[in-house]
Amino acid sequence: MKRRTLLISTVVAGALLGTTAIAQDLPQLEQKERYKVGFAQMESNNPWRIAETKSFHDTAEACGWDLIATDAAGSAAKQVADVDSMIAQGIDVLFLPPREEKPLIPAVMKARAAGIPTFLVDRSVDPAVAKPGEHFVAFLGSDFIDQGNRAAQWLMENFDGDKGVIVQLEGTTGSSPANDRKKGFDDAIAADDRFAIVASQTGDFARDLGRQVMETLLQAHPDVNVVYAHNDEMAIGAIQALELAGRKPGEDVTIVSIDGTRDALQAIIDGKMGVTVESSPFFGPLACEVMKKYAAGETIPEWVKVEDRIFTKDNAADHIDEAY
Ligand code: AHR
Repeated sequence: MKRRTLLISTVVAGALLGTTAIAQDLPQLEQKERYKVGFAQMESNNPWRIAETKSFHDTAEACGWDLIATDAAGSAAKQVADVDSMIAQGIDVLFLPPREEKPLIPAVMKARAAGIPTFLVDRSVDPAVAKPGEHFVAFLGSDFIDQGNRAAQWLMENFDGDKGVIVQLEGTTGSSPANDRKKGFDDAIAADDRFAIVASQTGDFARDLGRQVMETLLQAHPDVNVVYAHNDEMAIGAIQALELAGRKPGEDVTIVSIDGTRDALQAIIDGKMGVTVESSPFFGPLACEVMKKYAAGETIPEWVKVEDRIFTKDNAADHIDEAY
């Protein structure tokens, strides 16, 4: 698989937010040949998570990391305990994708108290409680509100029916991508009175749960003709449920989603899915770059923002070989 380096716009993000991390207020990181690095993954039940963990492993040797990678198996409590264990093992730096916004705050605070610089990757925590530049160094990741907004924009531009009856499959309750992808989509679609969201329910970012929830919602809303899924795994699950019910995804139901997995790009090529807005899991090289800059004393923006592409029938075949 070809690994893609994430596109970032740190200067723009820092300027937009109007603030940058003040290195001297945070735990420092000395410059040295090798670092003991913690990566506390939340779960490994989908291709996105597996690709993200692999990206850290693939980066480790070249970046001088002695990597301790854990898998919390879908439990926020275990993810906190995994960070506790990493602190006890004396890690120099922590990379943390917090499963949910609030339950992972203790992990961030404990790493801060232990003098370990922490970078949140791909997901964030509640910014009213734990702040970049103060409790952790920075957030490395996408603009999830913008992703939801772009999914809605594509739908509004490409839907050719009179009335769009939308079912929304939400990600993990209390996670930053679920909160923000919902907000971005709902706010944008509210401006177009052709559309109504008739149901919005969590599928926990999982294919099988997405399928089950779609099966149930289809009974209550047989007239659904649009599915917005917060990730590709749930979108694929929804396609399975729709096909089992005799519906034709891509013909009588428009599917819009987020991520850019191999299965989603194939579904676009097959005409079953309309769009997937990219959310890249390849954080290893970016984590290395930002960590080295931080160790060198450079100012790190509070949000190192990842730029996302969009995949449709016009370009899915061009990108499927680099997908995961
Ligand atoms: O945090 C990013 C989301 O988490 C991805 O969209 C999803 O597939 C993953 O589980």
